[in-house]
Amino acid sequence: MNIRAIVFDLYGTLVDVHSVRGRCEALFPGQGAALSMLWRQKQLEYTWLRSLMGDFADFDQVTRDALVFACRQLALPLDARSEQALCDAYLRLTPFAEVPAALTALKARGLPLAVLSNGSARSIEDVVRHAGLGGHFAHLLSVDPLRIFKPHASVYQLATDALGVDRASILFVSSNAWDASGARHFGFVTAWLDRGAGHFDELGQRPDLIVAGLDAIVPWLDALGRP
Ligand code: LAC
Repeated sequence: MNIRAIVFDLYGTLVDVHSVRGRCEALFPGQGAALSMLWRQKQLEYTWLRSLMGDFADFDQVTRDALVFACRQLALPLDARSEQALCDAYLRLTPFAEVPAALTALKARGLPLAVLSNGSARSIEDVVRHAGLGGHFAHLLSVDPLRIFKPHASVYQLATDALGVDRASILFVSSNAWDASGARHFGFVTAWLDRGAGHFDELGQRPDLIVAGLDAIVPWLDALGRP
C-alpha cells in the first residue's frame, strides 16, 4: 500500500452535524436531539433521492428542505427566522475534538490533504473556515460542478482528478459508512471513522481500516511506512 494523499468527508467526519442540537433545543425545548437526528437523516435521503431523480439541488437547499420536513414531521412550528437561524448554524458546525491536532500531524507527513463533500462550494468553505481548519487542505472539493451527490462514483473521481493521484494511492476517510462503502467500491483505500455507529453498512464493501478517532490514522500510516 502506497498512500500518496488523504481525502476526507466533511459532515460528521471532521465536523459534528449534531452540534446544532443546542440551537434546536433552545428553539424547541425537549425536541433538540430528535430534530437534529431527523434533520440529518432526511438531508441524506434527499441527496440520494435527488441523485436518483436526476434533479439536483445544492446541499444548502437540501439541508433547508430537510429541516422544513423534519419540523413538520415533529409538529414543531418553524418560522422564517428560526429556519434561517438553524441554516446559519449549519455553517458553523463544531469540529470533533481530535480533528485539529490530527490534521496538523497528517499534514506534517507531507501528504496533500483534501476535503471531498456533498456540501456546496460556499458551505464547505464557510464550515471549514469557521471550524478553524482552513489552512490544512490543498483542495476543498464540492459536488456542485457534477450536480450529483456521493456515493456516485463520479464524485470520488473528482478527488483523483484534482490530486493527480491514482485511486489505489488515496486514503479516503469518512465516518459515514455509506460514504466509506462508496469510496471503497470506487477503489480508494478506505478508513471508516466509527464515531459511535458501531455497525458498518451492508453494501457489499468492507473498510480497509476502522478507527475511533482521526488521530489513529497517524500511527497506522507510520506502521505502513515501516519495513
Ligand atoms: C459530506 C456529508 C454527506 O459529504 O457527510 O460531507
